[in-house]
Amino acid sequence: MNTPSLLILPGDGIGAEVMAEVGRIIGWFGDRRDMQFDVSEDLVGGAAYDKHGVPLADSTMAKAQEVDAVLLGAVGGPKYDDLDFSVKPERGLLRLRKEMDLFSNLRPAQCFDALADFSSLKRDIVAGLDILIVRELTSGSYFGEPRGIHTENGMRVGINTQRYTEAEIARVARSAFELARRRSGKVCSMEKANVMESGILWRDVVTEIHQADYGDVELSHMYADNGAMQLVRAPKQFDVILTDNLFGDILSDCAAMLTGSLGMLPSASLGLPMENGRPKALYEPVHGSAPDITGQAKANPCACILSFAMALRYSFDMGDEATRLERAVEAVLADGVRTADLMQAGDTAPVSTTQMTDAIIAKLEGSL
Ligand code: IPM
Ligand code: MG
Repeated sequence: MNTPSLLILPGDGIGAEVMAEVGRIIGWFGDRRDMQFDVSEDLVGGAAYDKHGVPLADSTMAKAQEVDAVLLGAVGGPKYDDLDFSVKPERGLLRLRKEMDLFSNLRPAQCFDALADFSSLKRDIVAGLDILIVRELTSGSYFGEPRGIHTENGMRVGINTQRYTEAEIARVARSAFELARRRSGKVCSMEKANVMESGILWRDVVTEIHQADYGDVELSHMYADNGAMQLVRAPKQFDVILTDNLFGDILSDCAAMLTGSLGMLPSASLGLPMENGRPKALYEPVHGSAPDITGQAKANPCACILSFAMALRYSFDMGDEATRLERAVEAVLADGVRTADLMQAGDTAPVSTTQMTDAIIAKLEGSL
């Protein structure tokens, strides 16, 4: 196979800071594991708007379609709050998701043992937590038509449409069932079939796919509001949670906070296989651009580094090397190394973004 290609889009705020650290990790794998990547870099979000007047240039979109995987930092910031909706930084990210057809968004929420006390929930409720939210990412109310704001009888009306075809539900359901097979074999599908027709169809299609091809996986259904409650009541009852775009946005933030810090959480957005068999893919940390700490060397690079680990696993079939990187991060946390977001009363001074990566690289060295 050719050298795998990676497009790096640092984006805004701390995106650039954490992505620079990922660059060092990629360098380490090149030097020490002989894993070469053909890396290119471009702009997205506010950074792209500043240069091109749009949050994603067509040339960048074209590049993203060609590479084996895209790694994205974060988009947005107060500087762009008053921009027209159509050119807001977030539109760049949504365009990538839609045009690359990244329908399956994997958001693991794993509670590292060393961080179990950071959760707002009690330790025994979250310790050992390891769930995976599979969120549909290219349809539903984020993209449904009609949409917009117009005036009816002198009154403004805002419209978005929740719309799912059975093909859209089926493909993300398959993705969740496949992933569950590699984990503990359970899927809980969440919708609002009690009030929404799209939820009724969602439940029917998920059930049909399950009956036809995934009888070995245990399937349950839950209304999404109950799902939110169960996530904070007893999150360890779940393994894979399958849900739509909007519910997935909300439930994944909820699940993220169970683990203590957004600074630890990676994500993968996957589409259909390309000609070389690899899925279309974009990897990004769950956290945002964090303008409040930008430029202060405080950002936690772990989520972005762990997103690269997901790329190794899901795009490049390098699961062992992904595990090596994940273990290195876990070992650093177990040693008590903490960036500012992970400080607790009594902790000594936090390490900087770069020092966190130094510690991870030292563990990687130790793993050889
Ligand atoms: C996410 C974010 C995005 C979303 C925003 C930045 C458009 O909240 O990835 O969860 O709503 O999908
Ligand atoms: Mg979100």
